[in-house]
Amino acid sequence: MTKAELLRIFTERFSGTEGTIYASPGRINLIGEHTDYNGGFVFPGAVQQGIMAVIRPNNTSIVRAYSCDLNDYAEWVVDDPQGPEATCFRFVYGVARELMERGVAVKGFDTVFAGDVPLGAGMSSSAALESCFAFGLNDAFGGAVSKWDMVLAGQATEHKYIGCNCGIMDQFASVFGQAGKLMRLDCRSREFEYFPFEPKGYRLVLVNSCVKHELAGSPYNDRRRSCENVAAAIQQLHPDRKIETLRDCTWEDLEEAKATCSAEDIQRATFVLGEKDRVLAVCDALVKGDYEEVGRQMYLTHQGLSKDYEVSCEELDFLNDIAKECGVTGSRIMGGGFGGCTINLVKDELYKAFTKRAVEAFEERFHITPKIIDVVIGDGSRKLN
Ligand code: GLA
Repeated sequence: MTKAELLRIFTERFSGTEGTIYASPGRINLIGEHTDYNGGFVFPGAVQQGIMAVIRPNNTSIVRAYSCDLNDYAEWVVDDPQGPEATCFRFVYGVARELMERGVAVKGFDTVFAGDVPLGAGMSSSAALESCFAFGLNDAFGGAVSKWDMVLAGQATEHKYIGCNCGIMDQFASVFGQAGKLMRLDCRSREFEYFPFEPKGYRLVLVNSCVKHELAGSPYNDRRRSCENVAAAIQQLHPDRKIETLRDCTWEDLEEAKATCSAEDIQRATFVLGEKDRVLAVCDALVKGDYEEVGRQMYLTHQGLSKDYEVSCEELDFLNDIAKECGVTGSRIMGGGFGGCTINLVKDELYKAFTKRAVEAFEERFHITPKIIDVVIGDGSRKLN
């Protein structure tokens, strides 16, 4: 949907009035999966696909919201304790409340929104929606919260209103993204650096398995709990140290923790410690322009996500095998897992053969056509008019 179309839908629905239009993107992540809630590093970038919303304060206490993609409409009182039921509106409701808690005087507003981030593909359509409203409502109601507050408002919405105890990577990438640049974020200190990403002779391409992932609910939260269990056990063994997350733990600590933690928790923590090392290895390799090493680490991440963290599925493992067979430099599950996309670092000359083979082989095996998405690193949250 174009900006003009969305503005027209708003004007039609809300009898001739005009609103301001905002946009926020989805994201990719080169490496550093399930490290954000463990205080580790992540390496995301914003994509060009995102959510657009037209917003206009309406001088009442009522929110009137229309989702173009779902053709669904809801109304609620802005500070109602329950709020709407449909998930797409709970994001809007939650973000508004979180902004209020951070001092923005959000009142009633009219809004229509639409997006082109595939839902459940691991590209953070939810964070795009949250960040779009965090940015837009702050602007529309003359708020003065920082970009970090917008990120935290989005994350708190997931925790309190959706039921997913996510980390901070997705909302961060959506708010802070810049065209052509990846970002290395230290999720413990929140320091970050922009990394121009122009690999000569390679490109990033996503293959969407079209297996819809759903992070709200137990499997994602279970993994987070395992990591917290292990960190807490190590803290008990070492009362003299400050262990907040697995970021503060070493391989020796993990070895010791085997005596008190379940095998499942240890297996999950093993992935996280390995991933911490892999992000740093990728940073070094990027500085040297060694994309073969970047790719090697990506395959290791996939293996860890699949075998130790157990967030893969048959379809994603299949796509990873095909990438390997075709000689693709790097390939892995992207995002939380349980479905969605693989991210692939592919040599220019292999691109055509790989994407063709991936589509054909997947169709033959699963009778679904996977979607090829060329990655273009785009800008973060912004006002469009
Ligand atoms: C989801 C979460 C993020 C992060 C990733 C895995 O996208 O929202 O916070 O944990 O999974 O890296």
